[in-house]
Amino acid sequence: MPNRSDTYVAAIDQGTTSSRCIIFDQGGRIVAVDQREHRQIFPKPGWVEHDATEIWAKVQAVVAGALAKAGLRADQLTALGITNQRETTVLWDRATGKPVHNAIVWQDTRTSALCTELGGEHGQDRFRDTTGLPLASYFSGPKAAWLLEHVPGLRRRAELGEIAFGTIDSWLIWNLTGGTDGGVHVTDVTNAGRTLLMDLETLQWDSAILSAMSIPEAMLPEIRSSAEVYGTAVGQLAGVPVASALGDQQAAVFGQTCYGVGEAKNTYGTGSFLLLNTGDRPVPSKSGLLTTMGYRLGGERPVYCLEGSIAITGALVQWFRDQLGIIRSADEIEPLAASVSDNGGAYIVPAFSGLFAPYWRSDARGVVTGLTRYVTKAHLARAVLEATSWQTREVVDAMYQDSGVRITTLKVDGGMTANGLLMQHQADVLGVPVIRPVVSETTCLGAAYAAGLATGVWQDLDELRSHWQRDAEWSPRMGAEEREREYGNWRMAVERSFGWHK
Ligand code: G3P
Repeated sequence: MPNRSDTYVAAIDQGTTSSRCIIFDQGGRIVAVDQREHRQIFPKPGWVEHDATEIWAKVQAVVAGALAKAGLRADQLTALGITNQRETTVLWDRATGKPVHNAIVWQDTRTSALCTELGGEHGQDRFRDTTGLPLASYFSGPKAAWLLEHVPGLRRRAELGEIAFGTIDSWLIWNLTGGTDGGVHVTDVTNAGRTLLMDLETLQWDSAILSAMSIPEAMLPEIRSSAEVYGTAVGQLAGVPVASALGDQQAAVFGQTCYGVGEAKNTYGTGSFLLLNTGDRPVPSKSGLLTTMGYRLGGERPVYCLEGSIAITGALVQWFRDQLGIIRSADEIEPLAASVSDNGGAYIVPAFSGLFAPYWRSDARGVVTGLTRYVTKAHLARAVLEATSWQTREVVDAMYQDSGVRITTLKVDGGMTANGLLMQHQADVLGVPVIRPVVSETTCLGAAYAAGLATGVWQDLDELRSHWQRDAEWSPRMGAEEREREYGNWRMAVERSFGWHK
């Protein structure tokens, strides 16, 4: 058992816009953070790519940065955990370690037509019983299929076992554990469960789906639990056990200690992702949610979740800043929005990548409704923030329809939870209190917790629960009548977003 006073666990959070490394102490407190952004590559409308080599370089830089800020050496870390943007797909050459193409990012819509074709007469739900997911461009399997089809000679090399497929967790673990010099090629159930290729019951790749998508099994990583030692790091982290991997939203569930059935969290990042713990059985969705893995600790029974995935929330604030130039920095939006008392009748539906939950409409595109000459940039700022809370309301309603569980409080985390106006509106439109924990970096915390459990830093889930502390709470103030009237306006705006992309 490591000594309490000098036990540290590091977590790498490789996200959509940046990579972060956070070092935690045994109390789950943050010791040091380092973060760097990477390039967003937009080759065509609707296409989004990342350079996986750049991502690996940024990850190494933030690890070095966090260690330096903490004043620690790598050999003082008991374990390393990995969490990552999910679904983003990398294919690399096992012999050279080089990606064969830019990574295709989860937001990329290039596989929409391929998904429609794969659905055929069965439609979008062809693989839903097995995978819990609709056939949508969001998921990794069709992205890999697209690459195999479009990169010359790739399919043959993949069939010969020369090419490795991975979501970002696999790419990082392979590089951390040696890369071309013996790197381990694994993924965890939470990431594998986002490929559209994994059977949610057996937790193995599904051969019928692989053959439907013409994906050779030889390129796939081994599916492991979310908390176990996959291998030992080499290089700058030499000797540190790589002991957890979870998709970032599942890591947030774990960091928010949502370990009981009916516990839910919402993470506000580029998009927002609301996950509800449904226990050790997958609950099928009829209301546009995903049935997904929560986590699996070593050989224990897996925990499942229902998920409401919203593609664009924080990214709408970025768009408002970068594309429209109405604000210069993201934190200017709150005072601008607070300078008016309501949205002036304006609603913005940010269907930039189509609409995800609960609609799954790839034909949707963004709309602004309710404009009159009365509307100012301050009203639009409010409409930007309100788009996040209304989209969340829609997935909360879908959760109730699917599970019968009415959320009584919502645990929140992520960058946008610093925005008090948004959090108040969120409580108002849900009609339940919204609660933020002291450590709002729950994604990294969850990966660190899982790695620490796998290496004996923490004993059990109760010990982790005892770390959770409330920082802020927002109670609903809006009357029921106003809430339902506004919600009706939002739903009308959503209807207007359908049918733009043929
Ligand atoms: O499914 C996509 C999600 O994992 C991305 O999260 O925080 O990197 O935007 P984030």
